[in-house]
Amino acid sequence: MGVNKEEIFDKVVNLSKRRGFVFQSAEIYGGFRSTYDYGPVGVLLLRNVKEQWWRSMVQLRQDVVGLDAAILSPPSVWEASGHLTNFTDPLVDCRECGSRFREDKLEDPNTCPSCGQKSSFTEARQFNLMFKTHAGPVIDSAAEVYLRPETAQGMFTNFGNVLNTSRKKPPFGIAQIGKSFRNEITPGNFVFRTREFEQMEMEYFVPPAESDEWFEYWCGERMNWYLNLGMKTESLRLRVHESDELSHYSKATSDIEFSFPWGWDELEGIANRTDFDLNQHAQISGNKLEYNDSGTGERYVPHVIEPAAGATRTAMAFLMDAYDEEEVNGEVRTVLKLDHRLSPYKVAVLPLSKKDELIEPSKQVLDLLQPNWMCDYDQTQAIGRRYRRQDEIGTPYCVTIDFETIEDNAVTVRERDSMSQDRISINELVDYLSSRLVS
Ligand code: GAP
Repeated sequence: MGVNKEEIFDKVVNLSKRRGFVFQSAEIYGGFRSTYDYGPVGVLLLRNVKEQWWRSMVQLRQDVVGLDAAILSPPSVWEASGHLTNFTDPLVDCRECGSRFREDKLEDPNTCPSCGQKSSFTEARQFNLMFKTHAGPVIDSAAEVYLRPETAQGMFTNFGNVLNTSRKKPPFGIAQIGKSFRNEITPGNFVFRTREFEQMEMEYFVPPAESDEWFEYWCGERMNWYLNLGMKTESLRLRVHESDELSHYSKATSDIEFSFPWGWDELEGIANRTDFDLNQHAQISGNKLEYNDSGTGERYVPHVIEPAAGATRTAMAFLMDAYDEEEVNGEVRTVLKLDHRLSPYKVAVLPLSKKDELIEPSKQVLDLLQPNWMCDYDQTQAIGRRYRRQDEIGTPYCVTIDFETIEDNAVTVRERDSMSQDRISINELVDYLSSRLVS
């Protein structure tokens, strides 16, 4: 049956609220604009996205190590990185209705999208996107600190520490997942652009002469990550930045873009940051940040290739890509065809009836499966409706315990996409699911 693209946005936002993926933050107080909380199902999806990134970027590689750096940092970090000066968006106000916009995102820079007034915009002012706060009880300029607008800088400032402790040599990477904060002028499109969000970034330090080839390598690797996790080929493209789009630190950038309901938009940027950041931090901090090969005597400042993805944005893209509606026996079935590695729950345990004689064996099956996978348990409503509820949140397998189970010690396993059912002995259930739920 399929769902037309324009409708997917509203359907996914609605499903997110209804089934506990994403809630408006501070909703009981009227909601805090552009800030979201991840509910019981959403937090699992988000964790799985991050886990899959970590697995492919750190666990399965010998050339990348992890880091978890502080969110608060002093102005010197952002002076060195260039964010104090350059991390700005052009802000315009409509003189007619008072609405504010990012000038570079306006479809028609001469017409206010809120009130339709022509030539009503003020001159653009450069607005710095960093959130500033104060450390300690005294609110003066000496106590100013910033919430990081990207996780990247923690990896540059720790370059020496990691080099000294990890026995790595270029090419090698430092990877990090964590929250970043940007005072976006126009947040919106649900969790696509928010002021508080999570990033998954890796800084890959390479000999300068090899930077172009590593840039190509990481563009390919990162594209394959989305495809390997089931994102449709036609939903993705790689777009090379024009020179006037490049960030202040970048020699080359390509974006992995997703076909959102409003058009192609960024999921991840892969940038060749050259030696910009290490040189800047070395200069401002007075500490050398270079690689020194004690064997060959070789000494150089590595160049950096950075694949930088948004975890929250990517989770939303996976939701949109997986959302589907099908007609089954004259009824619409909503199903999230998520790759099982991303599915919030891998298995749902469903007793056919609430009768006591089925509850005990159902709890035993749950006890058997829970140490292996995130499981849901649901004993209310007709079984067909419970299957539909699990389809809606993308659970790949439902295990049903019925009255025959008491006789034959077997259960029915239903697969989400094909809806096919297998009768499996409880003794073989873990093996059966393990061979299908590979990580
Ligand atoms: N260190 C480089 C860097 O931060 P970026 O393109 O500004 O590059 C990387 O951010 C990724 O972080 C983006 O591709 C996007 O997925 C995510 N991201 C950036 N700003 C965001 C926002 N306001 N809300 C949600 N995700 C955001």
